[in-house]
Amino acid sequence: MRIVLFGPPGAGKGTQAGLLSENFGAAHISTGDILREAVANKTQVGLLAKSYMEKGELVPDEVVIAIAKDKLESLGDKGFILDGFPRTIPQAKALDAALKDIDKPLDAVVNLQVDDEELVRRLSGRRVCPSCGEPYHVDSKKSEVEGKCDKCEGELVHRADDQPEAIRNRLKVYNDQTSPVLGYYEQARILRNIAACGDIQDIFGTITTALGE
Ligand code: AP5
Repeated sequence: MRIVLFGPPGAGKGTQAGLLSENFGAAHISTGDILREAVANKTQVGLLAKSYMEKGELVPDEVVIAIAKDKLESLGDKGFILDGFPRTIPQAKALDAALKDIDKPLDAVVNLQVDDEELVRRLSGRRVCPSCGEPYHVDSKKSEVEGKCDKCEGELVHRADDQPEAIRNRLKVYNDQTSPVLGYYEQARILRNIAACGDIQDIFGTITTALGE
């Protein structure tokens, strides 16, 4: 499995990538998670990325491309699910070039489609585990023990960019800068559009059917 999970903030990329990774053994690569870890560890990349992320702006292409390439190169023969990368045309072109070098082209780009009102509802009620990245929701996906991750017992947090102003900006950034990437993959004939509202497991089933798994 070599796929990109694409879609606006809150579409369920992280949720579905987790399920795909558990079921098919492919590596889940989330550039958002890698950047948040860098911010928490105050690395050079983290210090640079912090202000962009808090406002909901994209981190510069060259930084994110280097992170994604490093991760992909470390995988060997393992499959992967890219979550949140690529988000611009230069990132998509860099990914193509990197995968061509190792003769492992993408199988598919899965585009999760959700309307804006539902995206805002999902993001405002989201809680995440900073240790393992597992996403929860105060209404639709509660943890068994309130405030604790079911998987690793980490303390759940409300992400700084899940505040109303940052959410609005992230949706605008998605429409202006990221959605044009869809046309790029449509031309390459590997785009699979998935209606991503409704039950999480049902959406997972639709994705696996679309991938022919
Ligand atoms: P990133 O972490 O990638 O954030 P994002 O793309 O905004 O996506 P989210 O994590 O917010 O949402 P998701 O689609 O994963 O949804 P989730 O599964 O959590 O990036 C953060 C920042 O890092 C960016 O703003 C940017 O600054 C920087 N960055 C990262 N990558 C970059 C790149 N390539 N280039 C430049 N900058 C980059 O689900 C959301 C909520 O909904 C959860 O609460 C979940 O439980 C719930 N939910 C999921 N599915 C359903 C459902 N079917 N029904 C009801 N609730 C659901």
